[in-house]
Amino acid sequence: MNFDEIIDRRGTHSSKWDMMEPIYGVSPEEGLAMWVADMDFRPPACVSQALQSMVDHGIYGYFGDDAAYKAAIGWWMKSRHGWEVDPAAIFTTHGLVNATALCIEAFTAPGDGVVLFTPVYHAFARVIRAAGREVVECPLAKRDGRYEMDFAAYDAQMTGREKVVILCSPHNPGGRVWTRDELQAVADFARRHDLVLISDEIHHDLVYPGQRHTVMDLVDDRIRDRLVILSATTKSFNIAGVHNGNVIIHDPALRAKFAARFAAMGMSANSFGMIMATAAYSPEGAEWIDALMGYLDGNRKLLDEGIAAIPGVSSMPLEATYLSWVDFSGTGMAADEFTRRVEKEAKIAVNHGASFGTGGENFLRFNIATPRARISEAVERLQKAFADLQ
Ligand SMILES: Cc1ncc(COP(=O)(O)O)c(C=O)c1O
Repeated sequence: MNFDEIIDRRGTHSSKWDMMEPIYGVSPEEGLAMWVADMDFRPPACVSQALQSMVDHGIYGYFGDDAAYKAAIGWWMKSRHGWEVDPAAIFTTHGLVNATALCIEAFTAPGDGVVLFTPVYHAFARVIRAAGREVVECPLAKRDGRYEMDFAAYDAQMTGREKVVILCSPHNPGGRVWTRDELQAVADFARRHDLVLISDEIHHDLVYPGQRHTVMDLVDDRIRDRLVILSATTKSFNIAGVHNGNVIIHDPALRAKFAARFAAMGMSANSFGMIMATAAYSPEGAEWIDALMGYLDGNRKLLDEGIAAIPGVSSMPLEATYLSWVDFSGTGMAADEFTRRVEKEAKIAVNHGASFGTGGENFLRFNIATPRARISEAVERLQKAFADLQ
């Protein structure tokens, strides 16, 4: 576990490093890739060893027998999150964007509304719109520099056409670990408006010391009949390229609805994802995550301090995730101008806030899952690019 090691990812078909120039005009020769949500670290050795065993065997046929995979999920959820998962409740998908799209197919019809608390992970809106459903944006309120929900306003917005609400828990891009009371309020909202509640918990292992994630299923014992939980190893262990994820539905009637669409779409497992995820959910994987979060904690402090030294710029306090949500509104600059400075002067590729929906316009999202030397470099470049504000 040497998170300080600089591993050159250029020329490896890395979306983050090899697409930064075509998309942002930031050259990978001199630029820093701080956008796509994957990490510049190797996964724990147990994951690479599992893949190596496949390579040594050398036959890459169809996957069968998911008992060990489901047992590994059961062990992880129980030991890390205090949550009992019935193996029969688990469906394996090609990642969680795919899982979200399948849920939209299963639980809504064209023209129905899907509620998002924005700003939020941009792919939700993309797949909702692509499926001909309507995105219903419920804007998060910013209080004391962090996001909170405002259910009085959301209740007034509902028209009866909404069928699903998607919660990102912990929250990307705001970095919130929602409290039990906040989660209870989301569950109550879903019940009040008769919505299926999809809780995307992909970031649930990436929680900083002192914070505790609560699985939505543990919040409210009456929510199961409308609850879908999404989980994956891919974000936690940096194996997003295998596109493996889980849809977990305990309620038999809701599960049957999903199972019908799942079958209709011809879903079946990718063996690389199954084998690597099984290896990840292990005591060695747990130890690695703990070390990772200690390291990322140092990165977030370094970035936060560096950002705080630039007048008018501030980062939201990260409770979870390695995605720092940086607010430029205090600079008085238009988004084009602060983005130009970050991309063209600091030469850092970041996600544009507007792509996360209403409320994101004055923000940029910085991925801090990279060796600390790069965070120092980013801070130096940002301070230089905004030096005239000092
Ligand atoms: C909340 C959330 N869901 C899903 C994903 C992507 O999931 P996948 O790569 O499994 O499709 C991300 C990636 O950043 C995410 O932040």
